[in-house]
Amino acid sequence: MTDASPTDTAPAYAGPRRILSGIQASGALHLGNYLGALKRFTQLQDSGAPCFLFVADLHAITVWQDPALLTAQTREIAAAYLASGLDPAKSVIFPQSAVRAHSELAWIFNCVARLGWLDRMTQFKEKSGKHKERSSVGLYTYPVLQAADILLYKATEVPTGEDQKQHLELTRDIAAKFNNDFGVPGFFPLPDPLTQGPAPRVMSLRDGAAKMSKSDPSDQSRINLTDDADSIVAKVRKAKTDPEPLPETIEGLDARPEAKNLVTIYAALADMTREQVLAQYGGQGFGAFKPALAELAVASMAPVTAEMRRLMADAAEIDRVLKDGAERAAEIADPVVDEVKKIVGFWRA
Ligand code: TRP
Repeated sequence: MTDASPTDTAPAYAGPRRILSGIQASGALHLGNYLGALKRFTQLQDSGAPCFLFVADLHAITVWQDPALLTAQTREIAAAYLASGLDPAKSVIFPQSAVRAHSELAWIFNCVARLGWLDRMTQFKEKSGKHKERSSVGLYTYPVLQAADILLYKATEVPTGEDQKQHLELTRDIAAKFNNDFGVPGFFPLPDPLTQGPAPRVMSLRDGAAKMSKSDPSDQSRINLTDDADSIVAKVRKAKTDPEPLPETIEGLDARPEAKNLVTIYAALADMTREQVLAQYGGQGFGAFKPALAELAVASMAPVTAEMRRLMADAAEIDRVLKDGAERAAEIADPVVDEVKKIVGFWRA
């Protein structure tokens, strides 16, 4: 086998399992973030491996962020982690920028990653749009910083959405090239994305073809993690639907994006499959289904949104969690970046 790539023959990483993920600090959180990320993190918290969960503020500034808002959004994401059930005694919750090693390792990885690899990144193409030359350089090297986030903790599992799979592949490529170029087989793990599990794509309540998004100008399009019970009920009641009753089978949802979205949300909130939801509600109209969904959404989201509002009124409590998290994160990250610097050959006394 002369054409075997170095990763085929290199010894596998032998360190412990570690789970890591981040949420970008650039806007209010909504039901899509809750069902797609936060709820899964709480399930992973007790899986036996330590969890590192951070607020990606370094990533946020790849596009312009108002400084005062950035601080507030960082606290809001920390509040959402806590309100969703993450326990700061078990999971390490911290702001990315508070652990200097992220930026340090990202620079070194900028010199490992190849331009051709980054040229393939579809998220940059989407985010930079028609005016690539006006994007920040940071937006271009965004996935390299993401690789640093992950490998700094030698994370082995990364729960993310499907849209992050390409960035995970890049992370593996960077890890393999570093291990190979510097002759340190197995130094960095090749982390696995965790995209399976209950991570539904939650769509806008006004348009079943668009993702639920903080940037949608209509607040009616999303359920925010700070909405109270009355607004949740009102938003579900006004959600766009069609005049047909719910189908009996999943295939019956195919050409009905709005119906499909509401059934998906119900299933995710109730920890049911969509088949089970249709077995219960197939044949019934939205006049019956919407009130049931509103009740379920309030029952499952109200404790989270109430805790979110309580925490956001107590910045001191959030700041204590973030400071403690940053210290614990640095205890893992600093020795790794120190070792990397030694491997690279940087001078030290
Ligand atoms: N890019 C991720 C997103 O938009 C956020 C993120 C930054 C991240 N660094 C990470 C996710 C490291 C997982 C691991 O969702």
